[in-house]
Amino acid sequence: MIRLAVRCAPEQAEEVLAELLVLAPNGVEEERGPGFVEYAIYGAPGEVPELGELKAVAGEDVVKVTATAVPDDWADRWTDFHKPIEVAGRLRVRPSWEPVEGDAIDVVIDPGQAFGTGAHPTTRLCLELLIELADEGAATGPAADWGTGSGVLAIAAAKLGWGPVIACDRELASLEAAGVNAEANGVELSIERVDVREGAPRVAPTSIANLTANLLVEVVERLTPEALEAPELPRLLVCSGMLEREAGEVSAAFSRLGLEERDRRVDGDWAALLLGR
Ligand SMILES: C[S@@+](CC[C@H](N)C(=O)[O-])C[C@H]1O[C@@H](n2cnc3c(N)ncnc32)[C@H](O)[C@@H]1O
Repeated sequence: MIRLAVRCAPEQAEEVLAELLVLAPNGVEEERGPGFVEYAIYGAPGEVPELGELKAVAGEDVVKVTATAVPDDWADRWTDFHKPIEVAGRLRVRPSWEPVEGDAIDVVIDPGQAFGTGAHPTTRLCLELLIELADEGAATGPAADWGTGSGVLAIAAAKLGWGPVIACDRELASLEAAGVNAEANGVELSIERVDVREGAPRVAPTSIANLTANLLVEVVERLTPEALEAPELPRLLVCSGMLEREAGEVSAAFSRLGLEERDRRVDGDWAALLLGR
């Protein structure tokens, strides 16, 4: 098994991570030390990106890129950094080995090889927006989660009151993790394999998309009137995965579909949008 590591200065970290997630959408390991942040991707030889590819996205001047061979237990390493997180005092995401605590809505997630422990700022921002929508009484009817990873947002949506909930992803590891996690949470998800680069994802009145800025803009191109009838467009869209400086571009792209920005949340360099029509 190969471990590809990209080490950079903390001020470059969010930008390097955003680029890396395009190459490794299932997530990367993060390690912080004095004056550096290191991100690592694991995979079999031939399955991990090329070193040159990584250097190109991360920028030659600011980073050090290394490849090392590691033992084959890499898939279990995420357990070291998966800790419970609480969002808005209303919802708690925890790994299965941590006990239930308090009376927050309990979402139990073991991501396996998929992205989505709940801890990433983009996931947290989406959860915050979903909780507020639920508090306003908007958590009714169908929802769809594009790029579901571990299923964390789809499962949270189901527990907050939306239903039925569709969860889609292009990665088999994500679909498997979402299925296992849905069962562990006692919720039903309709799980579908979809590559949003190849076709329009299934739309629900409330749609959720924690993808990258580039993928979100591509989704807009897929949701054209030719591909969809206007009533099929989401009424509400919670989206993230973009850097704050990319939020304007994503917002402008969706406004071409009549989805206007209602809220923008920022955490560090990351942003999330609530769009509606
Ligand atoms: C940033 S993760 C978000 C996971 C989870 N929804 C969360 O918020 O923690 C993005 C997810 O999108 C999926 N993805 C990336 N490119 C995709 C594509 N072209 N079509 C469908 N899913 C994609 C990845 O496999 C990954 O699970």
